[in-house]
Amino acid sequence: MTNDHSGMPSGWVADLLSDTLTKPTAAMRAAMVEAPVGDDVFGEDPTVAELESRVAGLLGHEAGLFAPTGSMANQLGMRLHVEAGQEVIADSLAHVLRAELGAAAVLSGISSRSWAAERGRLEADGPLGLMSVGAGPYQVGTALIVVENTHNFGGGTIQPLETIREVRAASREGGVAMHLDGARLWNAHVATGIPLADYGREFDTVSVCLSKGLGAPVGSVLVGSKELMARARIWRKRFGGGMRQVGILAAAGLHALDHHVERLDEDHARAARFAAAVGEVAPWVVSPEAVETNIVMLDLGETRWAPAELVDAAAQRGIRVYAAGPRAVRLVWHLDVDDAATDAATEVFTNLLSRN
Ligand SMILES: Cc1ncc(COP(=O)(O)O)c(C=O)c1O
Repeated sequence: MTNDHSGMPSGWVADLLSDTLTKPTAAMRAAMVEAPVGDDVFGEDPTVAELESRVAGLLGHEAGLFAPTGSMANQLGMRLHVEAGQEVIADSLAHVLRAELGAAAVLSGISSRSWAAERGRLEADGPLGLMSVGAGPYQVGTALIVVENTHNFGGGTIQPLETIREVRAASREGGVAMHLDGARLWNAHVATGIPLADYGREFDTVSVCLSKGLGAPVGSVLVGSKELMARARIWRKRFGGGMRQVGILAAAGLHALDHHVERLDEDHARAARFAAAVGEVAPWVVSPEAVETNIVMLDLGETRWAPAELVDAAAQRGIRVYAAGPRAVRLVWHLDVDDAATDAATEVFTNLLSRN
């Protein structure tokens, strides 16, 4: 069954809509209750301070800033590096371009362009072919490259560190900053064994989410230099994200760092098991090698299914999933999906898809 830590039935046999659905465990709730707190707008919340410095350390940076959402952490990251009228570039499936509702343009006057990337995978030619440096008064200048790792709409794709380094070297030469949308960097770290700091150090700023696979109810952390984080603190307040006795939420994040990082490999193993079974009966829908972490993208292009129809058919059988595009359905494994829920989802999808 889908595990619901609230003690209330979730109503789904398996809820694979998103890894944002997780409910705090009893142990996490206990940690939240116990947390020492203070007014964080005055910099007086010790639990927030602990979370910020711990995450900064993990990612190889000087300082951190707690943000209410991943979107705000990304928007702060972009704001720090890009002047109004300059541009950010990212792949065309990137969350910052597709799913933050134009916030960079609306809030910060930032223009954007994108490169195409198969399954969101970073290839150096993408950003480097697009980057516009020293364009003079006639063209928009590129101030920032955003990389997403793992890649959500790409299907949990892990970005190759060597390619990141290649892009970093060229961007540094051009004076272009780099921001990592690391909402699921934890998954990349656990899947590859690459230390978080090895990824983190290649970027000027990094955002990570505590509220996805890690299972905290809310919260993200932005990291960078002390100077950048001091500026981000001002912009966070300006964006309306100055929070008060928020150590109660930071405590959930600290608990997640202690207890919910290494277990992400269970999510990866379940996603892989599902993909292997579905790939066996319908190899045109998913190739198991494409499943690198906790996300499975089903490509319905060669089937009779429209995404919304497959989502409905699965829902009627107790499995909730997401229509992620004109031919794609996404399934996401997380803390609240166990082996039995995985087996149930596997049975439903192998049945539905083997009939093509
Ligand atoms: C890759 C990525 N970045 C950023 C975010 C934004 O996080 P939030 O929903 O907390 O704003 C998400 C959310 O799904 C995401 O998948």
